[in-house]
Amino acid sequence: MEENLTNVKNKSSDDYIEIVKNITDKANVENKSSDDSIKIFKNVIDKSNVENNSSGKNPETLMRLTDVWKIYKMGEVEFAALKNVDLEIFHGEFIAILGPSGSGKSTMMNLLGCLDLPSKGVVELNNKDISKMKESELAQIRGQLIGFIFQQFNLIPTLNTIENVMLPLEFQEADSDFSWKRAEALLEVVTLSDKKYNLPSQLSGGQRQRVAIARSLAVDPKVILADEPTGNLDSETGNYILEFLSNLHKNEGKTIIMITHDPALTKYADRVVHIRDGMVDSIEIKNSEAM
Ligand SMILES: Nc1ncnc2c1ncn2[C@@H]1O[C@H](COP(=O)(O)OP(=O)(O)OP(=O)(O)O)[C@@H](O)[C@H]1O
Ligand SMILES: [Mg+2]
Repeated sequence: MEENLTNVKNKSSDDYIEIVKNITDKANVENKSSDDSIKIFKNVIDKSNVENNSSGKNPETLMRLTDVWKIYKMGEVEFAALKNVDLEIFHGEFIAILGPSGSGKSTMMNLLGCLDLPSKGVVELNNKDISKMKESELAQIRGQLIGFIFQQFNLIPTLNTIENVMLPLEFQEADSDFSWKRAEALLEVVTLSDKKYNLPSQLSGGQRQRVAIARSLAVDPKVILADEPTGNLDSETGNYILEFLSNLHKNEGKTIIMITHDPALTKYADRVVHIRDGMVDSIEIKNSEAM
């Protein structure tokens, strides 16, 4: 209910459901031991152990957008939400996409998340044109390579905290004992171990977003794609989430793609892509060491 109220113009409240529908394709989840899954993320919260992996890393291209257009058709009327976008995203970088409301950020997120295809131009993932991939291949990418975090959290209201976190693993048909242990470990990382059995409606906004973050990490994806991840949170909780994402980048080498309208949220980004009216206005390099 609350989510619907804050979500009048934003279609994304159903996005997660759409995604999970799309990732029912069987794919292999590497069954790491539960000990590994705990160790993997321990240093995300341990700030004393910041080992900066972000300098001198490889500048390999993860995604490349070449002359990308997205044209929405409404009957006779066409609207170009993205125009002539050229953009490269590198493995292991923290990139922010910054622009005002209506500038095309969510449209861009849908392309970067392989949830949509461009009307014109090419989107490549690891040098492969995504429009040439089979739906099953795209589903596997969405299910395994990318963890999604949405402004509206998009938790499944009828599932409790731990079930929400386990969901992506269940879609990958991971062993249920493994899924449970991994979800427990992730809830420990986001400090929600005491809320395992709460439904989303029994959590605060910040707690819901932490569940969403834990869920996005369930399959240990290389890439985290976050659309306004702090948009519905107070500034303190927002800062916690932002630092958490930054630590995932620095300590775990994750590629973070964060979409926001707020320049203050780009403080940990290596690069900031400024978009306006569907076009890339400029690309600002904040941390040249990362490049
Ligand atoms: N399905 C659609 N049909 C027609 N126009 C659309 C559709 N989706 C988005 N648009 C238009 O495309 C433009 C970009 O929308 P988008 O949702 O990408 O903006 P945004 O930058 O994410 O904005 P916000 O910060 O408000 O979320 C807007 O002008 C919007 O009205
Ligand atoms: Mg948007």
